[in-house]
Amino acid sequence: MVVTVAEERTSKRYTGGFVDEMRSVAMKLHTKDQAKDGEKETQGKPWRKWEPTIDGYLKFLVDSKLVYDTLDTILDKADFPEYAEFRNTGLERAGNLAIDLEWFKEQGHIVPEPLSPGINYSIYIEELSKKDPQAFICHFYNTYFAHTAGGRMIGRKVAAKILNGKELEFYKWDGDLPQLLQNVREKLNRVAENWTREEKNHCLEETEKSFEFNGDILHLIMA
Ligand code: HEM
Repeated sequence: MVVTVAEERTSKRYTGGFVDEMRSVAMKLHTKDQAKDGEKETQGKPWRKWEPTIDGYLKFLVDSKLVYDTLDTILDKADFPEYAEFRNTGLERAGNLAIDLEWFKEQGHIVPEPLSPGINYSIYIEELSKKDPQAFICHFYNTYFAHTAGGRMIGRKVAAKILNGKELEFYKWDGDLPQLLQNVREKLNRVAENWTREEKNHCLEETEKSFEFNGDILHLIMA
């Protein structure tokens, strides 16, 4: 039986904590073709009609790796103590992406240098993390969780179209992904319990930025 991403999540979708608000804001920022709770009109091609190329997909993977490396470095450095909560969650992607990029090299492809979508986003979150923990945690949540939902669906489609169905390491996790996600949701809820309503709202307001930056990186798939 094939379990869809949406079905896999249904049972654990609501936690009764702040992460439900983060999710609800994020879902509304999807376009209607991306997710059923999406409220935005689709601009340009619906994602299911995207025409990926290997070169474009490699650009996307390289820029994604840069962003995940940056997120992990920020969490390791922990300028704010709550960042340390989100180390070693099992959601980390940079190591898996390194394996995938190596595989592409072995296949004779040239792995490009990062481009402005990944570089700009990395600079942005690095700066933000030093002064604005609520906003930074919004980016942490959206980037990691988006990849486990829409990111995986996109990965499957791209693999079917241009990689003979090969499943990259980027889309594999050690352990039970729904449980890993649930553990992080609980941590996010615990951390946010110490935030004022204003700080929570500030975190939620940053979601749009995360969609813009991550959207630019996703669009590299067709570059
Ligand atoms: C969840 C699709 C882009 C953030 C989801 C879900 C789908 C989806 C189907 C699951 C809905 C459900 O559980 O009912 C897509 C597609 C995208 C896309 C097709 C692009 C083509 C993005 C972007 C972001 C984002 C750019 C922000 C960086 C999220 C978040 C969730 C989510 C935070 C909730 C995950 C969870 O609750 O575990 N998306 N999405 N998505 N997406 Fe997206």
